[in-house]
Amino acid sequence: MEKIQRMIEEHVGYLIVFTILTISVAMMVEILPLMFSRSTTQPIAGVKPYTALQVAGRDIYIREGCYNCHSQMIRPFRAETERYGHYSVAGESVYDHPFQWGSKRTGPDLARVGGRYSDEWHEVHLINPRDVVPESIMPAFPWLAGAKLDPAAVQANMRALRKVGVPYTDAEIAAAPKQVEGKTEMDATIAYLQGLGLALKGIR
Ligand code: HEC
Repeated sequence: MEKIQRMIEEHVGYLIVFTILTISVAMMVEILPLMFSRSTTQPIAGVKPYTALQVAGRDIYIREGCYNCHSQMIRPFRAETERYGHYSVAGESVYDHPFQWGSKRTGPDLARVGGRYSDEWHEVHLINPRDVVPESIMPAFPWLAGAKLDPAAVQANMRALRKVGVPYTDAEIAAAPKQVEGKTEMDATIAYLQGLGLALKGIR
């Protein structure tokens, strides 16, 4: 045994090869089963692919860097579930590419924010957070209200999402531009936020 250890430690080549081998086996054991397990690849009841408007809103969420301050993953601890609701499960994120779990929380977790406030609340809050939460340090995003969505872009995004496994039908993709026509980035962001976490809402 000691001879083998010496051999590996004294030859950088062996060390590299065995390190890679060890890590690869560990990765296969940990990651591969997740790619085939139902609980991580199948949506839970009530989780549907985002609508065209929500897809656009999700892109704005990513563009504006909302994830830098907001996680979308409730951990399975009492302090978290009391505040936010049921902890997050993998089957809620199967249509999220890329997922927005995160761990940085300058603001609250948003995994179950859907339905917590009215659309009007969100609009006022996004235009100037201080108007509804006086002590808020969240930046204002007033330009969202003035910017119109690009109907063609949303269609391309849905096609790309379909390539990575979101089951959009041809009809849904064809109808997408109509659904976002004339809508603003504000409408889209709010539609996205209002859809978050509804599948396990109210369950603890
Ligand atoms: C610099 C950090 C920061 C960024 C960036 C940020 N937020 Fe916030 N957000 C906060 C803080 C802090 C709060 C808590 C105070 C408040 O409600 O305004 C908050 C609160 C919220 C709430 C209310 C959550 C609740 O449960 O009460 C929503 C919804 C929200 N943010 C959405 C967004 C969206 C959408 C974006 C991107 C367009 C965004 N935030 C970007 C810091 C941030």
